[in-house]
Amino acid sequence: MNILFVGDIFGSAGRRIVHEHIDHVREAHNVELLIVNAENAAGGFGVTPQIAEEFFDMGADVLTTGNHVWDKRELIEYMNSATPDSQNRARRILRPANFERGVPGFGIFEGVTTSGVVYAVVNLMGKVFMSGTNNPFLAANEILAGIKAKVIVVDFHGEATSEKVAMGWHLDGRVTAVVGTHTHVPTADDRVLPGGTAYITDVGMTGPRGGVIGVKREQAIESLATMMPVRFETSTEDPWLMGVLISASQPPRADAIAPVRRPAPGVT
Ligand SMILES: [Fe+2]
Ligand SMILES: [Fe+2]
Repeated sequence: MNILFVGDIFGSAGRRIVHEHIDHVREAHNVELLIVNAENAAGGFGVTPQIAEEFFDMGADVLTTGNHVWDKRELIEYMNSATPDSQNRARRILRPANFERGVPGFGIFEGVTTSGVVYAVVNLMGKVFMSGTNNPFLAANEILAGIKAKVIVVDFHGEATSEKVAMGWHLDGRVTAVVGTHTHVPTADDRVLPGGTAYITDVGMTGPRGGVIGVKREQAIESLATMMPVRFETSTEDPWLMGVLISASQPPRADAIAPVRRPAPGVT
């Protein structure tokens, strides 16, 4: 089966570029499972229920998030409308599984594709240079003990490359893919690890490459150069779709992982 994972969709430019490309990428690669990180989809900060619905309408099977998950408060009510066993859309938007116990929502989704393949998506977040999370390595062990699906995709939302590489090795042979998100900058280390797990440190951002990880570049430069408070606005310049395509003919092993990077039509 072929899995497409789309990196953090950032603002309106990110939403436009994903809609621009998603149909032909899915058709060209016969994608059976579409996972999208949506944590920055609403102007860079969180995702609203309405935007989540747009991604589901587009064909996304599961949405993952990260540290920005609570930025739009209305998402909490949306998430709370799901029960552990439901398969509805509200159940298919995840927050990191290793947040504190008792917070709204779920960090794991188990479902079945249209051709009958059972799969699981796990959203985890790092601890290094991040806050609000419990040990992701121990959380991963506990979670995997309870998952029966052979196809397992882990979105590891993290800041530090070291922690993400370590998670790849930690889960090698136990899951189909560990894909990194959060830094918005794609890395060139996509590969299938010896145990059969497809790995990349960061898939990159689906959004405006002309900014600084999503915000207008002149504002980011001013902020960094002066260390004064600057109001950030979302860049719309040079949007790209960035993600990875993972194939797995004998899951949990992956056969291959390859980046998918598409500029706006007409841009090379
Ligand atoms: Fe992000
Ligand atoms: Fe993030």
